Amino acid sequence: MKDILVIEGGQPLYGNVHISGAKNAGLVLIAASIMAEGETILDNVPRICDVEVMVQILNEMGVKAFWNEDDSLSIIPPATTVKTQTPYELAKKLRASNLFLGALLGRQGEAIVSLPGGCDIGSRPMDLHLKGAQALGADIDIEHGYIYARALQMHGSRVYLDFPSVGATENIMMMAVKTPGLSIIENAAKEPEIVDLANFLNSMGGKIRGAGTDLIKIEGVPVLNACRYTIIPDRIEAGTYMIAAAITGGEVLVENVIPTHLHPIVAKLQETGATVQETEQGLLVKGGQRILPADIKTLPYPGFPTDMQSQMMALLSLAEGTSVIVENVFENRFQIVDELKRMGAKIKLEGHSAIVEGTPSLYGARVKATDLRAGAALVLSALAARGETTIEEAIHIFRGYEDIETKLKSLGAKIK
Ligand code: UD1
Repeated sequence: MKDILVIEGGQPLYGNVHISGAKNAGLVLIAASIMAEGETILDNVPRICDVEVMVQILNEMGVKAFWNEDDSLSIIPPATTVKTQTPYELAKKLRASNLFLGALLGRQGEAIVSLPGGCDIGSRPMDLHLKGAQALGADIDIEHGYIYARALQMHGSRVYLDFPSVGATENIMMMAVKTPGLSIIENAAKEPEIVDLANFLNSMGGKIRGAGTDLIKIEGVPVLNACRYTIIPDRIEAGTYMIAAAITGGEVLVENVIPTHLHPIVAKLQETGATVQETEQGLLVKGGQRILPADIKTLPYPGFPTDMQSQMMALLSLAEGTSVIVENVFENRFQIVDELKRMGAKIKLEGHSAIVEGTPSLYGARVKATDLRAGAALVLSALAARGETTIEEAIHIFRGYEDIETKLKSLGAKIK
């Protein structure tokens, strides 16, 4: 059954792994493509469940979206209007469906967006997205699980984000890119995926400056012309395979990465005793003889990413000593703890902190992937554990990791 992964642990991983395009960049670029005139072609889009759902949403909205033989994704919006409502049954499957708020408002001044689903990792409000929409001239109503956003005439404006939310920054960039006048986002998110969105919109004729800093300036342009664009590599997928090398005491060359995007992860990995060497092909990660404890605080980029917290917890469960992990971004990111404990991990929770007392070994067990990154962490623990681990609800993992079974097998893992 596709929803279960079975892993026989204890094999050090060796070899090369090619990193796919970034899930979080792919999702927002797919949404943004509906604002262009003509055929957008996206290269390096990961073939993962979340992307397939975005493609289905596009089709339901009357936008043509299809895979080409060379694995690129074509997106062709109609010359007239698209459906302004994202279908609930699809939108509830992923949080990123909320990105149609910005794309639809930016395209045609109206959006009816289902309150989104996705990983259950904490309350994920949309107040900052809506603050941006209102500042740019949209009226907002929330009824029956939908956000209704309408604007007769949008206008450039200044928006201060109380927290540098990735989704809110992206939505406001999309709302503003074709809106007359100058829009400014203060305390904007600085993640590499934000920079990728700005580069993509600018390739289509947008005028966005400052992406990657906390002040983004957007000068509205009347038209965006479709282009061909290659999505950045997935830093979280890369980080996960780097930990796979470290946790199994193996040696893996992680190819197709942008090393600067990985600095926060590399720094912590080195603290735990792994060796990371930058080569022409990518990052070569060697597991150390011992795993050392390290303290982690998740923060917006360039801090340590919340999307790598669970995987790091898996590694630190096997450290020689005690580590403290503080989760500052999503409050429910500790659901993994009970599952890791089933494999022998010793972890105590105190509010937003997890105290991880390292243990010499983990053992195989029957566990459940509660969300995408928790699922990835269970895969990592299972690779290092003694005996067989069965991971249920692995669908969460397939939402974000392209060909994970094939990639791990090629590194010597026993996984099916
Ligand atoms: C994106 C990523 C996700 C990553 C997260 C943080 C995508 C598709 N997902 O999610 O993988 O874990 O960034 O790096 O790109 N918040 C508010 N009000 C808002 C919006 C957010 O309070 O209007 C809060 C959230 O509750 C959370 C924090 O801001 O505590 C960060 O959320 P945000 O950066 O918006 O994450 P997402 O865009 O949902």
